[in-house]
Amino acid sequence: MMRNVHQAIKVTDDVFWVGAIDWQVRDFHGYLTHRGTTYNAYLVLGKHPTLIDTVKLGFGGEMLSRIASVMDPSDIELVVSNHAEVDHSGELATTLDIIKPDRVLASAKGVEALGQHFDIPQPIEAVADGDTLDLGGMGLTFAMTPMLHWPDSMVSYLDKGAVLFSQDAFGMHLAGVERFADQVPDAILLEEAAKYFANIVLPFAPNVLRAIDKLDGLGVPLNVIAPDHGPVWRAETGRIVGLYANWAKQPRSKSAAIVYDSMWGSTARMARAVEEGLRQGGVPVTVMPLEACHRSDVATQLLEAGALVVGSATLNGMLLPRMADVLTYVRGLRPKGLIGAAFGSYGWSGEAVKQMEQMLEEAKVEVVATGVRHRYVPREDALRACHELGGAVASRLRETYDRTE
Ligand code: FEO
Repeated sequence: MMRNVHQAIKVTDDVFWVGAIDWQVRDFHGYLTHRGTTYNAYLVLGKHPTLIDTVKLGFGGEMLSRIASVMDPSDIELVVSNHAEVDHSGELATTLDIIKPDRVLASAKGVEALGQHFDIPQPIEAVADGDTLDLGGMGLTFAMTPMLHWPDSMVSYLDKGAVLFSQDAFGMHLAGVERFADQVPDAILLEEAAKYFANIVLPFAPNVLRAIDKLDGLGVPLNVIAPDHGPVWRAETGRIVGLYANWAKQPRSKSAAIVYDSMWGSTARMARAVEEGLRQGGVPVTVMPLEACHRSDVATQLLEAGALVVGSATLNGMLLPRMADVLTYVRGLRPKGLIGAAFGSYGWSGEAVKQMEQMLEEAKVEVVATGVRHRYVPREDALRACHELGGAVASRLRETYDRTE
């Protein structure tokens, strides 16, 4: 018998990973997925075989090939869509057409969203919070997790093996042949989990805490967490749940990120003076020139930093475009509890500092020091003012965090 090119990977005695690996994707609507990603789908082999989620358009062949390595895809009886976003539903219509399941299930909002995305002839049934499906010797229970991170989002819990199919929650963008979190080097695992939380989940942080409470309320064990991206958690499931619970509270620290963009190096020199002011003020600082740092890495840095200090030259009466991009992105992520300040060099009008301060305030970042703007090349006085700006931010961070640490 010929072996399938793509093989399903066993997660438990009854659950197989049948997703797809995207080694190539680097831009996930603005998020730099520098290690690629996976689109995870899962096959539950009960008496009534069930497929949980599908994959992004273009990856259906890989998914079906993995399914075919353990069963005839046309024997799948049920398909569950935990999340309607197209990286998990792009191949839904084609898959349904091929396997012709008896039933397709989603949350009520999922039914609506799938209908607004695709022309699927087969009716999709809505399931409600707490509904349980008998898969034959095992039960699949649904729990609604609205706005984690779409209105339709829900999770499914398989009692046999205690497996939570968590859709985007607890996932990460990480391509790799390793299917389990315990096979991935810890530094990469933590970096990518934090990046995913900071860039996708952060605006919905209160819903994370609600979802964790809901899972606690079920009073069931969690032996496996099977998300829709990245590795499956089969050991230490409490670790990723604990990290989410912590990040959702937006814990901040006595640390700062300096994010800047420069035209001819003057704003860069000012940034280095701000850095010295912060460092000499006892504050760990990360310097992120936007020529070298992506907006999604800035967002990750801001997951736990206490201060965001921004610098931009003025170009045609405006802050530089990369700074506008980052501040717009940060505003959308709705960070809580950040303080900040602004600085920049200019040639003749110098609007950028005021514009950045306004954008910080719109992003609910408290501006705690008067901005420093300097015409053309900064010399001793201007660099001293930048050093003092860093010192003022450091002082405020010490006041806040030395009391609580
Ligand atoms: Fe991975 Fe919200 O889609």
